[in-house]
Amino acid sequence: MDQIKNLSPLPIDRREALRRLFETGAPVLSLAPMQDITDLPFWRLMSKYGGADLYFTEFFRVTPHYVPEKNILRSILENPTGRPAIAQIIGNDLEAMARTAQVLERHPVAAVDLNLGCPAPVVYRKCAGGGLLRDLPRVDALLGVLRGAVQGAFTVKTRLGFEDAREFDALLEVFAKHRLDLLTVHGRTVAEKYGPHVHLDRIAQAVRSLPFPVQANGNVISAARAVDTLEQTRAAGLMIGRGAIRNPWIFSQIRDRLAGRPVSLPTGRQVLDYISDLYEAVCTPGVPEKAQVQKMKKYMNFLGEGLETREEFLHDIRRCSTRDEFFTICSRHLDHGREMALQP
Ligand SMILES: Cc1cc2nc3c(=O)[nH]c(=O)nc-3n(C[C@H](O)[C@H](O)[C@H](O)COP(=O)(O)O)c2cc1C
Repeated sequence: MDQIKNLSPLPIDRREALRRLFETGAPVLSLAPMQDITDLPFWRLMSKYGGADLYFTEFFRVTPHYVPEKNILRSILENPTGRPAIAQIIGNDLEAMARTAQVLERHPVAAVDLNLGCPAPVVYRKCAGGGLLRDLPRVDALLGVLRGAVQGAFTVKTRLGFEDAREFDALLEVFAKHRLDLLTVHGRTVAEKYGPHVHLDRIAQAVRSLPFPVQANGNVISAARAVDTLEQTRAAGLMIGRGAIRNPWIFSQIRDRLAGRPVSLPTGRQVLDYISDLYEAVCTPGVPEKAQVQKMKKYMNFLGEGLETREEFLHDIRRCSTRDEFFTICSRHLDHGREMALQP
């Protein structure tokens, strides 16, 4: 396509960073992209609590005249984690996607990632994200254009299909045609949204049949579940989303478990400290208190699921509006020294 510019070559280091990460032999642990959650302050906080090996930005939503949002770019430009970052794009306009991918890879990213999984109707009805999985020729065309446009690593994050996990067979054939550098498989269909079952057998199928690394994603909520997912799929890495919001220690817990060390669980008070850290990290100075509390509720929706008293906690949190009320509720549920598994 003539809109793909011939740009100066990327430094070898950048082109190789992702490959080297997957050559260490240890499973790579990635923080999942999560819109309005995994911003720069959240990355910083995750890295303080043990941290992922690889960080994905929330998606850049590419439309025909798109210019990448500054607040998402900031995560890449000021990446505070010391680990590689991957910029994720979503959309279906071939020219705009190729152009944006090229713009993004001029920034310090280890790869550009294509989102083929978003289940939000506002996205999939426009045939982007998970919606593209209903149109494999279009996926094929998009992968071809992006592979041609991206000089460095090009990766994909996908669900298994739109309606039925059996659609994955044909999808794998499309992926196999394009030299991807990494495929992350969220082991659910779009229709399954965030349902309880993750098709680990389908992720294993991708691992067996593709000539590039595959990461497993979906419900990795503990060190035990991480080991089980790795054993059942033989994946080269794990991507963790909601489990990391709930339990930022999860990355170090998994590393401990894989190294045969005892896995320590946080006490209620440590979880309370994490919530205070989160408040300080993600709340912007000058923003009214009510809006800050509102923002914290988004994180608490996930964290609350890991509490034994989740219903009462979430009921109260959803109704509070001041910082004091917020922390009074958190203290009521978490000011104790008992260990917490933080699982739903
Ligand atoms: C609030 C929220 C926002 C998300 N935003 C994105 C996104 O921007 N890009 C993407 O590929 N997936 C997104 N996802 C999906 C996650 O990356 C991940 O695939 C999914 O949560 C399953 O992993 P988990 O069970 O570890 O949470 C989002 C998920 C949540 C809960």
